[in-house]
Amino acid sequence: MDAGGLDAAAREALESAVKSALAGAEGVDEVHVALTADKQRRRMIAIGSGKGGVGKSTLAANLAVAMARRGRKVGLVDADIYGPSQQRLLKTEGQKPTASKEQLRPLQTESGVALLSMGNLVEQDRAIAWRGPMASGALGQLVDADWGETELLIVDLPPGTGDVQLTMIQKHKPDGAVIVSTPQDLALMDATRAMNLFNAADVPIVGFVENMAGYICPHCGEMSDPFGSGGAEAVANQIDVPFLGRIPLDIAIRLASDAGEPIASGDDVRGRAFDAIAGRLEAWLAAG
Ligand SMILES: Nc1ncnc2c1ncn2[C@@H]1O[C@H](COP(=O)(O)OP(=O)(O)OP(=O)(O)O)[C@@H](O)[C@H]1O
Ligand SMILES: [Mg+2]
Repeated sequence: MDAGGLDAAAREALESAVKSALAGAEGVDEVHVALTADKQRRRMIAIGSGKGGVGKSTLAANLAVAMARRGRKVGLVDADIYGPSQQRLLKTEGQKPTASKEQLRPLQTESGVALLSMGNLVEQDRAIAWRGPMASGALGQLVDADWGETELLIVDLPPGTGDVQLTMIQKHKPDGAVIVSTPQDLALMDATRAMNLFNAADVPIVGFVENMAGYICPHCGEMSDPFGSGGAEAVANQIDVPFLGRIPLDIAIRLASDAGEPIASGDDVRGRAFDAIAGRLEAWLAAG
């Protein structure tokens, strides 16, 4: 039973009910009642990269949606405090989260994912010019919010290795990290560096995702390879990290993101590409 969620009065009532039911039973002199909480552990997976603009937010939103479609209770933390984007990707612009007992309550999005993003807490287009400690404090409010039944928290990390990332990795300790990279050599070097950052904090790497791998022509549907592809998979194999999947560079993905309708909500080939990655994450979670 989840005794952790009981208030003092309910706890007392339950204890005295157990005591009076047992009182006077044969061989019972004294009754001690211990209520224990057996809460399901909430898992947290960070989506990181060594470089900006490679598709962390796109992957975070679509992975969250794909996991929700698989029946998971999923929450998404937009840890990009200075440049949030999930309010747009998950169509909650203009909505404000409420608070209960000094804790923020996530927004419920149309795609079934609970969301907290600075993009819903500050006025749009107003630059956030906070110093590191304030940004780290804001991150704490998002992570330690009233996530209720949420069993999986996906965290969309900002680019780089600033205060927010370090706080996220070191203080909030995700259970695992997914690293996104584009196929170019330089981006892959950055991805390896990002991986070292997680390794240094003992955060396990779930695996690599290659984004913008191959271009799907919007006119003829044919696939070409402007940046090459397969690089992330090769590097993953070299350094013995699982390869989770590949997402093509496809204008439909960007258009869906801009419209706040994550492509993973649909059943076409792109939705399936994200779902395949969700399946591998699910297997990783089940094994751990
Ligand atoms: N596979 C894809 N096909 C087409 N466009 C994509 C794809 N992945 C991402 N994009 C587009 O590329 C841009 C950058 O993606 P996104 O914002 O997800 O990157 P990011 O790594 O989160 O960036 P930042 O480091 O700034 O947070 C967005 O306009 C997004 O719609
Ligand atoms: Mg982003």
